[in-house]
Amino acid sequence: MNSINTRVLSPHSEGISEAARILADGGLVSFPTETVYGLFANATDDTAVARIYEAKGRPSFNPLIVHVPDVDAAKKYVEFNEDAERLAAAFWPGAITLVLPLKAEAGISKLVTAGLSTLAVRVPHGDAAQAVLRESGLPLSGPSANPSGRVSPTSAQHVISGLSGRIEAVVDGGTCAVGVESTIIGCVGEPTLLRAGGTPVEVIEDCLGRKLGVAGEAIVAPGQLASHYAPQGAVRLNATDKRDGETLLAFGDVAGADLNLSPSGDLVEAAANLFACLHQLDAMNAENIAVSPIPERGLGQAINDRLRRAAAPR
Ligand code: TXA
Ligand code: MG
Repeated sequence: MNSINTRVLSPHSEGISEAARILADGGLVSFPTETVYGLFANATDDTAVARIYEAKGRPSFNPLIVHVPDVDAAKKYVEFNEDAERLAAAFWPGAITLVLPLKAEAGISKLVTAGLSTLAVRVPHGDAAQAVLRESGLPLSGPSANPSGRVSPTSAQHVISGLSGRIEAVVDGGTCAVGVESTIIGCVGEPTLLRAGGTPVEVIEDCLGRKLGVAGEAIVAPGQLASHYAPQGAVRLNATDKRDGETLLAFGDVAGADLNLSPSGDLVEAAANLFACLHQLDAMNAENIAVSPIPERGLGQAINDRLRRAAAPR
């Protein structure tokens, strides 16, 4: 692949207009959402979408989320049901993605859905994301803006270090507030948890008034690759001690911490810091990483999901 000059754009009107222009021309632009930085392209343009896969080095069977500015825009592309209406009203804009039946006439590239009859849609929060979506008027497909299998980016600097020379631009809108990707809910039939993420499962179940189903292997398979979000070093989870030669990524009031997701044991703070800490471990050349136990409640579920993938055999 030829290297291209990756520009850093401001999150103000000039930068946003330029981002929208690049996207309309079939280019790739990264900008922040409240969860992580995404790598975006016009979801109706096959060539532009193909370039996302190329830039990330992503396996082509892995479908992408389409981002739109509001629920009305989402309805151009997918069929809503009662559960989806309720979740969208409660959580959009926000860190939840709904998988719904794709409208045949929607014009979304088959590379986005990987040939599935469903489409994942999301209305992101965040000034830069909303501004680019509104200015471009395009449905934008966007995975996280990291090389495939590597740690997701929560700052423009993370995007540059992973994808510089492979994308046209990144809008520098500062650090992402949530820090882990959106929760994905399958809304075809019974609502089902497809990926834990920035909106806690308990809150979603309260909104629906019932428990979420759990996805079977076959549905989980796309995008849920075992090894993912991986720093360079080996990762040991649920570490209650720090062994010789280990770098400790702590949670809570723990002795010997090299980095701490949240010294006070706050899961929201830990989620926001997670990917930045994993990037930092790479910068420190940490070869053996120990991670403190993280409680499996609220955002802890999303954090543990990402950490298990980071620790998976490669
Ligand atoms: O917070 C987020 O969701 C970020 C920001 C940029 O919006 N995006 C993100 O995208 O995490 P990505 O591509 O890294 O993850 C998309 C996930 C994958 O696990 C994929 O398999 C799943 O969504 N997915 C997409 N379309 C699907 C579909 N039709 N059915 C089931 N899963 C789907
Ligand atoms: Mg990703």
